[in-house]
Amino acid sequence: MKTGTSSKLKVGVIFGGRSGEHEVSLVSANSIMKALNPDKYEIIPVGITRQGSWLVGVKPEAMLEDKSDKGKTCVPYAGGPNGKANLNCDPSNKGLILVNKPQTENHVALDLLFPVIHGTYGEDGTLQGLLEQADMPYVGCGVLASAAGMDKTIAKKLFRDAGIAVAPFKEILRSAWKRDPEAILAAIEKEFSYPCFVKPVNSGSSVGISKARDKATLREAIDQAARFDRKILIESFVNGREIEVSVLGNDDPIASVPGEIVPCNEFYDYTAKYVDDRSELKIPADLSPDITEEIRRLAIKAYRALDCAGMARVDFFLERATNRIIINEINTIPGFTKISMYPKLWEATGISYSELCDRLIDLALERYRDKQESLAAVI
Ligand SMILES: Nc1ncnc2c1ncn2[C@@H]1O[C@H](COP(=O)(O)OP(=O)(O)O)[C@@H](O)[C@H]1O
Ligand SMILES: [Mg+2]
Repeated sequence: MKTGTSSKLKVGVIFGGRSGEHEVSLVSANSIMKALNPDKYEIIPVGITRQGSWLVGVKPEAMLEDKSDKGKTCVPYAGGPNGKANLNCDPSNKGLILVNKPQTENHVALDLLFPVIHGTYGEDGTLQGLLEQADMPYVGCGVLASAAGMDKTIAKKLFRDAGIAVAPFKEILRSAWKRDPEAILAAIEKEFSYPCFVKPVNSGSSVGISKARDKATLREAIDQAARFDRKILIESFVNGREIEVSVLGNDDPIASVPGEIVPCNEFYDYTAKYVDDRSELKIPADLSPDITEEIRRLAIKAYRALDCAGMARVDFFLERATNRIIINEINTIPGFTKISMYPKLWEATGISYSELCDRLIDLALERYRDKQESLAAVI
């Protein structure tokens, strides 16, 4: 598996990217790169700018300061362990090509990639698909789980099918909304009462999400969500506590202790997540042993329902009036800064931040070997 003269595993950490969560990704990647044991790993930073250029060798801190992608040089090769089609990005243009072996002596052959890009083009299966094509081992969920987890409607259908409660929901298409908004408003009002939630189906960091209180705010909320996606999700409001569980593993996943988010705003919107630091993380969440166990069990069930691998954070509501556990969503590349919920929950469960990174790398290699086994049967 190891290549080159160094016996260390060459790990490419991919960060940044063309999503609204670009900056969060830089902070997450920075924490991961600092935590990876330098005696075990050689770390190669692979930044993707907001414009989509791949810059190998640029540190996340530098990308935080310099937002343009002009005039950067890079060592552009991300070669796989077995010399098949591999990733190569050409510094003279923004494209990526697949090559069989390093094209110049500057090229560094990587053993594994650690994608730390939240949201679109990073968490949604597209990057994972590219890495599959390049035959590279990588950390985290594969194409299917990433894509299904990113699409809130598809994920809810799979959760519901697995017997996990979801809030009543309805999906509408932007094209239908543009064609006949009045009919859509009438149909929603027939099915839902106020307040209700409106979200772009593919979203993250609460971008484009609103709570509608009446017809006027519903209309605004749909217009707003339609700016971000062609599919719009309407959801019943759940008056609940927000409980999150971290899950880790491939075929035998384990769940952390649950944590609770207490948002400083009316809901956990973008400001509450990243701007205002008054939201509270309670770790572990103050729950009865029964509810704790049930939520952990459901988190693993949800993880399996989407065929996740490596890691995911599963977010629930605990309905205040009934104590009913309702799943909200799954995040396949959860926030990974030192103070993020995902690693914090593992810390509280007995796995330190750097051990967590080690385990994720081991799981990626395990998953890759597992896939090779099925390929061997086909060829
Ligand atoms: N059905 C709902 N009822 C009550 N609050 C909700 C509902 N859906 C979302 N929220 C609030 O909005 C926040 C963001 O919604 P979420 O679906 O988690 O989107 P994102 O993927 O952007 O995190 C949640 O953390 C919660 O505070
Ligand atoms: Mg969320």
